[in-house]
Amino acid sequence: MSSKTILVTGGTGYIGSHTIIELLNAGYDVINVDNGINSNPSESIKRLEEITGKKLKKNYSLDLGVESELRKVFQENSDIVTVIHFAALKAVGESVHKPLEYYTNNVAGTLVLLRVMKEFNVKNFVFSSSATVYGVVDDCPESGMTEDRSINANSPYGTTKVFVEYILRDLKVAQPDWNIAILRYFNPVGAHSSGRIGEDPKGIPNNLVPYILQVMTGRREFLSIYGDDYETKDGTGIRDYIHVVDLAKGHIAAAKFLEGKNGVCEAINLGTGRGMTVFDVLNSLKKVSGKEIPHKVMPRRAGDVTIYLADVSKAKKLLGWSAELTLDEMCADAWNWARLNPEGLSSS
Ligand code: NAD
Ligand code: WQD
Repeated sequence: MSSKTILVTGGTGYIGSHTIIELLNAGYDVINVDNGINSNPSESIKRLEEITGKKLKKNYSLDLGVESELRKVFQENSDIVTVIHFAALKAVGESVHKPLEYYTNNVAGTLVLLRVMKEFNVKNFVFSSSATVYGVVDDCPESGMTEDRSINANSPYGTTKVFVEYILRDLKVAQPDWNIAILRYFNPVGAHSSGRIGEDPKGIPNNLVPYILQVMTGRREFLSIYGDDYETKDGTGIRDYIHVVDLAKGHIAAAKFLEGKNGVCEAINLGTGRGMTVFDVLNSLKKVSGKEIPHKVMPRRAGDVTIYLADVSKAKKLLGWSAELTLDEMCADAWNWARLNPEGLSSS
């Protein structure tokens, strides 16, 4: 068991909270920084501590963009070896209307964090990037997209990820002994098997599974299926859905990979490499819940592509990690979470 200290930003959010559970289970000491802009920090921490039977080393309620406050975190904790940086705004549609907020939070906030890390000589950095950096792709092979593809995005949110990736590459040139893992997540879904934590979107969900769950719990009338005229087996879009617990474990693998290095910067896809259609997801949720799910086919959504899949061989080779859980397991855990917490983390 390791007793290293990891600083997590955004650790009370969806992916961060699942990752903290895996970090605590792996024996890490965890410090969290989150301003609660898209989470319920006290409830999330209470629940993840309940699940693991362990405590966070420290929790700071602060905006990581406030440099003087962030500096105090590093001053008070000289044992931080690695930073896992989840904190960001993440709604693609919202980013189109609020680009300045997105660039400030996601890019300027990350710059503050990196500056403070440099000042305190902390050199291991795991970054939450996104498959969205591959842009609008019309040539995704069946084996998935490899990391050496060019990156460009089609939303301000996506561009924040592209910018930070470039910043990290430049930083690695100037600071050759830094160890950086840029993790490009595909479509995270599901929840912890306890049903105590899961995705808790504020407002109307944009993503498929959270939307379906709200239909299943009676909060929305029906699912709009965005197009059934794609060139796929049932006409709906294909994505690479990954269980959030598998994704969380990918971060432990990445942190361990960085710990042993003296200078590395790698972009790594985290997905399953398996493609599922909208109907595959809908049918799986129907199967695991025994519920009918009202749905209507609507026109295509602007910006959507037919197929978006990860080539996952690099993650396996470098991190020794691959996703293990099936679509039915993702859906069963997602449904269990939604059933037990129809109002998200505000339902105790
Ligand atoms: P989330 O919104 O649930 O979690 C993000 C957390 O960061 C929240 O708890 C929020 O309060 C916090 N936060 C945001 N800005 C902050 C700031 N300036 N200071 C302190 N805390 C701040 O999102 P998530 O789904 O857990 O995503 C985590 C990361 O993964 C994000 O960087 C996101 O862009 C990336 N990502 C997510 C997905 C996805 O589908 N969920 C896919 C690809 C990449
Ligand atoms: C999946 C499929 C839709 C909703 C987005 C972001 C990406 C990343 C992950 C952060 C598509 C269909 C959806 C609905 C539907 N996030 N759909 N009805 O678009 O692959 O990726 O989340 O980094 O940046 O763009 O995920 O869940 O929105 O859509 O039919 O109500 O479900 O058309 O085929 P997407 P999604």
